Amino acid sequence: MPAAAKAKTPALDVNLDNFWMPFTANRSFKGAPRMVTGAKGMYVKNERGEDVIDAAACLWCVNAGHGRPEIAEAVKQALLELDFAPNFQMGHPAAFKLAERLSEILPDGLDRVFFTNSGSEGVDTALKIALAYHQVKGDSARYRLIGREKGYHGVNFGGISVGGIFRNRQQFPALLHGVDHLPAAVNRKKFLRGFGPADPFFSDELERIIGLHGARTIAAVIIEPIIGSAGVYLPPEGYLKAIREITRKHGILLILDEVITGFGRTGHGAFASEAFGIDADIIVMAKGLTNGVVPMGAVAVRREIHDAFMQGPDGIEIFHGYTYSGNPVSCAAGLATLDIYRTEGLFERAATMGAKFQDMLFSFQGKKGVADVRGIGLIGGVELEPQGPVGTAGMKAFVSCWEEGMLGRFTGDTLAFSPPLIIEEEHITRIHDIVDRVIARQYK
Ligand SMILES: Cc1ncc(COP(=O)(O)O)c(C=O)c1O
Repeated sequence: MPAAAKAKTPALDVNLDNFWMPFTANRSFKGAPRMVTGAKGMYVKNERGEDVIDAAACLWCVNAGHGRPEIAEAVKQALLELDFAPNFQMGHPAAFKLAERLSEILPDGLDRVFFTNSGSEGVDTALKIALAYHQVKGDSARYRLIGREKGYHGVNFGGISVGGIFRNRQQFPALLHGVDHLPAAVNRKKFLRGFGPADPFFSDELERIIGLHGARTIAAVIIEPIIGSAGVYLPPEGYLKAIREITRKHGILLILDEVITGFGRTGHGAFASEAFGIDADIIVMAKGLTNGVVPMGAVAVRREIHDAFMQGPDGIEIFHGYTYSGNPVSCAAGLATLDIYRTEGLFERAATMGAKFQDMLFSFQGKKGVADVRGIGLIGGVELEPQGPVGTAGMKAFVSCWEEGMLGRFTGDTLAFSPPLIIEEEHITRIHDIVDRVIARQYK
């Protein structure tokens, strides 16, 4: 059979056929590719080598900005000094150091850290730790997991089972059993800056689910403090505190998935749990942990949970771990990233710049085509009026933004924003002007 013509980028000599791209409409992308060819600071480069402002920290990852020499140097040193070492029945210093450094910025009490390679692995690790914890405590009837509608917890089987995004579940019918879902806690009012007014309905639903199954069968509740991938939704005031109280009352573990809200993004400390004033039992993190440059995730666990595993006869306490859990190169990237966050005060910066960023986003309120604006700190969503099936308007605006010189994200018809924490006022203005032009053209 004659080979089909290979799809190529117009400006780069790259054959696009063989890479099956994740979460991408492969056929339309390969017909009109959008290629990133370089990155520095607040900008990535398009295939013509032009600067494109990064309003999304490239998938919520690059909190300290692109091309940081400190991280590059640390990774290079690690590669030359200790490129790989196993952490199964062996150890190397960087993994212990990174766990210690994380425990210094984590909320009090969460100071035992298990390393993974991604947020998805972090979520599945957290769920497994929760299930195994109840087993070691002799409470083995607790096998149910409660997630949330609109929740995104990565793409592994545990994560999509507790996750609440239909499109991520529908092709994979055999999910974990014993999972139930809370309703998404979405404010009923539009254009709310920060949290919305208290709405006990959403947390009362947890009591209803507990009443249905019996508390003694439930191992854990997992939630994102802010619904990210499904559209940037902040909960009503007091919601997470109420969930915390209910879980504690019933001996259910609370897992917070802070994969996107971690590392300063909300403008209230290192983790969103601080912004919400709640003490989780387990926190999952990834992305900003290494500034996104080397894959890594982590699961921070309350000390009592960890210590429950350290009872009984000596031996492997949890039969779980990944070949690359805490590998030296990722740890080096993590340590260098945490240094940057500290020395440049980026979490504090996210508070001041976050307020200005929110002012900019809320300036779209009242503009034609804008259905809602939501956000906190350096997280934001501008929801557009639908223009056909869900996602049509969002995709169109996303592509136009890229063509105008801004890399964003879209989820449904919401443009999602999560710029690097090094953002300056001039960047905020640039993002504003591009989004303004794109919306004005799309909703003439
Ligand atoms: C809240 C949340 N959890 C988990 C994940 C999965 O992380 P990863 O893509 O690194 O597996 C993501 C990714 O966006 C996320 O936003």
